[in-house]
Amino acid sequence: MTANKAAKGRLDGRIALITGASRGIGAAIARRFAAEGAHVVLTARTVGGLEEVDDAIRAAGGAATLVPQDITELASIDKLGAALYQRFGKLDILVANAGSLGTLSPVSHIEPKVWDEAFAINVTANYRLIRSMEPLLRQSDAGRAIFVTTGATRAPRPYWGVYGASKIALEHIVRTWAAEIVKTPIRVNLVNPGPIRTAMRAKAFPGEDPKTLRHPDEIAGTFVDLAETACSRHGEIVDA
Ligand SMILES: NC(=O)c1ccc[n+]([C@@H]2O[C@H](COP(=O)([O-])OP(=O)(O)OC[C@H]3O[C@@H](n4cnc5c(N)ncnc54)[C@H](OP(=O)(O)O)[C@@H]3O)[C@@H](O)[C@H]2O)c1
Repeated sequence: MTANKAAKGRLDGRIALITGASRGIGAAIARRFAAEGAHVVLTARTVGGLEEVDDAIRAAGGAATLVPQDITELASIDKLGAALYQRFGKLDILVANAGSLGTLSPVSHIEPKVWDEAFAINVTANYRLIRSMEPLLRQSDAGRAIFVTTGATRAPRPYWGVYGASKIALEHIVRTWAAEIVKTPIRVNLVNPGPIRTAMRAKAFPGEDPKTLRHPDEIAGTFVDLAETACSRHGEIVDA
């Protein structure tokens, strides 16, 4: 497997791992990164969704590798790191986008299963991605890591407790990591997408007209800005 040679773009020849790429924001980032010349490695559980994204990327002349994976199976993250090292010897870009809303409910009513799953996806899996991918990002001349947070961390919002708490934990761990590696060439940031037309948003706001929201394609450029070698931002939460 080689990086996509046909395309010329802002991410030409870069190797990018994108989690949660089967639909929504992750799928849009995958299509845009491939159009910018990156070879994208895409993970999620839904094989059909990954294949649809792959079809669109190939039709546009890009290149993708699909890795169906439940990100809560933490050993699979380590295995992916080893496979990326064997194939590419490095990772240029990590986009840790996979996320879970959990269930909107009063804190006292949150089901333990929902709490555990939200923290497993939004926090623990991302810590394990950092642990597994930092050595690979260090092999890149300009490693970039981008995590996806939410405006729900800015102030407590009734019924959004498990989502807000898990995403603020994510922000803390990512900004701590950023401070630790500030002297390396790796640049690490978080993106707050704002309200975007996806399945997760529809679950949170079922009565909302999706047409009033931005499409995921409209925010993919923010991720390109933070992924390219020229990016100097570090440890920030960037509004898309
Ligand atoms: N949409 C918004 O308005 C909005 C606003 C603020 C922040 N965000 C954040 O943006 C990110 C993307 O959200 P979205 O709106 O695009 O949501 P989405 O359409 O529900 O997509 C979520 C993605 O995460 C993947 N995922 C979930 N659980 C997983 C698991 N256990 N293992 C592997 N992959 C898993 C899903 O893939 P599978 O189901 O195929 O596994 C899917 O590709 C999330 O981090 C979310 O918190 C979204």
